[in-house]
Amino acid sequence: MTNEHWTIEGLKWDQLAPALVNSDLLQVIKAAALVEYNAESYADYLCRIFHDDSEFQKITRQWAVEEVQHGAALGAWAEKIDPSWSLEVAMAKFRAGYVPEHFLDNSKSSVRGSRSGEMVARCMVETGTSSYYSAIGDATNEPVLKEICKHIAADEFRHYKLFYDTLNKYLEKEGLSRFGRLKIALGRIAESEDDELSYAYYAANITNDGEPYDRKTYNKAYMSRAYSYYQFKHMDRVVAMVFKACGFKPHSLPHKIATKIAWWRIALETKKIKKLAA
Ligand SMILES: [Fe+2]
Ligand SMILES: [Fe+2]
Repeated sequence: MTNEHWTIEGLKWDQLAPALVNSDLLQVIKAAALVEYNAESYADYLCRIFHDDSEFQKITRQWAVEEVQHGAALGAWAEKIDPSWSLEVAMAKFRAGYVPEHFLDNSKSSVRGSRSGEMVARCMVETGTSSYYSAIGDATNEPVLKEICKHIAADEFRHYKLFYDTLNKYLEKEGLSRFGRLKIALGRIAESEDDELSYAYYAANITNDGEPYDRKTYNKAYMSRAYSYYQFKHMDRVVAMVFKACGFKPHSLPHKIATKIAWWRIALETKKIKKLAA
């Protein structure tokens, strides 16, 4: 895995156009920067789970370097758009308030039940991030953010492939069924409504320290904005990637049906959230 093709310094910063950025976009980018910037903690966990696989450990460390770069690039962009905001300050708040249990213990077994299961979960995260940055990149006209999103989305698609290849390597040894994989995949997707993104939104955007964290409130605040960038084509790709990781045939009738259901659900959720916020 090489990351020589793009650097933060090499971005076209002279074309930055703050007037093309609205507050909703700025808020979700600040939150995304924190989650990306925190990848080292996840790499520590993965290296523990794959403690006797030095090849995968090497790949994981390089993966984390790239994810941290995503956070640094998004953070640098947000700092330029809003000079009163600091990635490091927001990050300190995020790290102090969000530590998943499986990062804390020293267990060598995956919370997903197996190494294959762990890779299915990782494929879901890369599916989510690749589609998300593609969607934001398509939606924004701000040239630097567009460029950052294009680079990040390409990295996320490559990360998916990396974890997918590792999944196949371990499937041969562990034999996790297609439905077992699907269960883990759907479970991991449901976790996106968990604390990580909600807390990142809170840590990145709520500067009043007296304002308490509430998962439901900040989850809605994040999701309503995040979903609004998606188009049908992004969802179609998401479903294809989920199908592939679970061993089901993409571009089939079930794929078409699942895409329609997922798209309908997003539209419904967005509508529901907007109604609540009104
Ligand atoms: Fe990333
Ligand atoms: Fe990634």
